[in-house]
Amino acid sequence: MKKMFVMAMISGCLSIPLVALAQPAGGGDLTFTPQNAPPVVFSHNKHLKEQGLKCSGCHYQFFQMAQGSYKMDMGKITKGEFCGRCHSGRVSFDVQDPQNCSRCHQ
Ligand code: HEC
Ligand code: HEC
Ligand code: HEC
Repeated sequence: MKKMFVMAMISGCLSIPLVALAQPAGGGDLTFTPQNAPPVVFSHNKHLKEQGLKCSGCHYQFFQMAQGSYKMDMGKITKGEFCGRCHSGRVSFDVQDPQNCSRCHQ
């Protein structure tokens, strides 16, 4: 009985750091489903942890903190709105290069 309690305590402690690691950064992974193209995955983790961006790098200048608060489309993005603020070949890969479509559309 006592042994089981100790085991439960140990596994309880071990799971805390695992939960912390699994915690998604910011708003997590968001999937957008445009009508005539494969889904687009936006990963907060990749932008925050790997690129070191701050929340204020996107919120609230380009995006609100709620999925779908703006109607994005490729025309606006290509003109430099939304993802196109950075994905224009300057800060990051260019949305207009046909080789890059599948980096967002998966
Ligand atoms: C590289 C740009 C970028 C950065 C940096 C960023 N976000 Fe976001 N965030 C987005 C986008 C894009 C959306 C979706 C907006 C939309 O669909 O209109 C979003 C949405 C959200 C949402 C709503 C998620 C939902 O399910 O509706 C939350 C919460 C959020 N962000 C929190 C944060 C926090 C906290 C940080 C900083 C730790 C952060 N974001 C940094 C781009 C960013
Ligand atoms: C930086 C990420 C990104 C790249 C790169 C990208 N797209 Fe998109 N695309 C989006 C987002 C975001 C949407 C809007 C999703 C939604 O419906 O909310 C979109 C929407 C679309 C749509 C739906 C109709 C429309 O006009 O919005 C088409 C078609 C499309 N993209 C084609 C392309 C093609 C072709 C390429 C390569 C030349 C490309 N995309 C590259 C992010 C990207
Ligand atoms: C504030 C600038 C900024 C905005 C806005 C932004 N990104 Fe990015 N994104 C970056 C940077 C920087 C990188 C990494 C550099 C590179 O790989 O060229 C990146 C990388 C990515 C990657 C590759 C991730 C990987 O390593 O697999 C995808 C996919 C992506 N972004 C999608 C999006 C989409 C979709 C949006 C709009 C909803 C968006 N980004 C908005 C700056 C931004």
